[in-house]
Amino acid sequence: LKIGEIATPALLVDLDAMESNLNGMAAFFRDKVCKLRPHFKNHKTPMLAWKQIRAGAIGITCATLREAEILVQHGIDSILIANEIACDTKAERLAELSRLASVVVALDSQCVAKDLARAQRDRNTQIEAVIDIDIGLNRCGVESVEAALDLAKFAAGEGLRVRGIMGYDGHLQSVPQSAERDELIRRGSRTLVDAASLVEGAGIPVSIVTTGGTGTHAVSGVYPGITDIQAGSYLLMDTIYLNRGARFQRSLTVLATVISARSGHAVLDCGVKAISAERGMPALKDCPGAELKTLHAEHALISIDPGSAGGTLQVGQRVEVWVQYSDATMNLHSRFYGVRNGQVEEIYRIEH
Ligand SMILES: Cc1ncc(COP(=O)(O)O)c(C=O)c1O
Repeated sequence: LKIGEIATPALLVDLDAMESNLNGMAAFFRDKVCKLRPHFKNHKTPMLAWKQIRAGAIGITCATLREAEILVQHGIDSILIANEIACDTKAERLAELSRLASVVVALDSQCVAKDLARAQRDRNTQIEAVIDIDIGLNRCGVESVEAALDLAKFAAGEGLRVRGIMGYDGHLQSVPQSAERDELIRRGSRTLVDAASLVEGAGIPVSIVTTGGTGTHAVSGVYPGITDIQAGSYLLMDTIYLNRGARFQRSLTVLATVISARSGHAVLDCGVKAISAERGMPALKDCPGAELKTLHAEHALISIDPGSAGGTLQVGQRVEVWVQYSDATMNLHSRFYGVRNGQVEEIYRIEH
């Protein structure tokens, strides 16, 4: 299949860029004590999760129980749900899933600890958890190392298998590198490692102290006591992540066709049903002077500077649009085309 034969709109991944990101991150962790447990939510593609494992990842991180179920269905046996779940039916599904693989869930409340413990008793299984600490993102997590210790003791007392500590420094991912930023990252890591020591001191063995993302991995990934890093975006890289990891390249575009054109104006067949405009308007690849102004459901409206090369956009012409925010764009597709040298090399299924 040639790129020119793909029906648009379609999601493309530049395989050279993606493989360079895969190998670059794998090389960083190769000689480290800390390992990579890459996040699945960015690509939702089991074949990519397996590539990451083959490149040295010790397991896969995900954001939802459904993603954990998909990973188990695809044979991945070490999973971290780096997020809270809070619902009886989900506790039961997690208990069932725990029969098939090691699935560790983030925990920040006693009431969920009780629900998980009840579900594992009812189903005669063993649920594993890490205590989630808020290290500055102001999202989920308990607020102090002492609260983490209390919850770890409570959860272990209820019969859950407490594996350790997690905390995500999401508020620092997009902060440009500086000595102050690195110190803030280390402060977050230190909180997690301190909490892990307290928990171990209480007789609960700790094997996981997990944190970090694409923008912070180089600092938290070498902090003594951190066992693994949950970076996800590094693999495909979208435009909003460009400043978070200079070593990584954008690989994701949406291929679209010009369906209407007149002076200074063109329309592509990719709207918000094919590409997300969340967190900024996507930019056109290799179309100087052409700017995406508005997305409708099935249309992208382009304004063209008549004096530029982009001024020549013709009906039927194909263009690529850089994905601005991959998390909200992968969701809109059920497959992507892996391309190299103008040819489709592989078609990957995105699982929902
Ligand atoms: C809990 C958690 N861990 C890790 C990540 C991955 O971070 P990144 O995509 O910056 O690599 C995310 C992404 O939002 C996250 O929510």
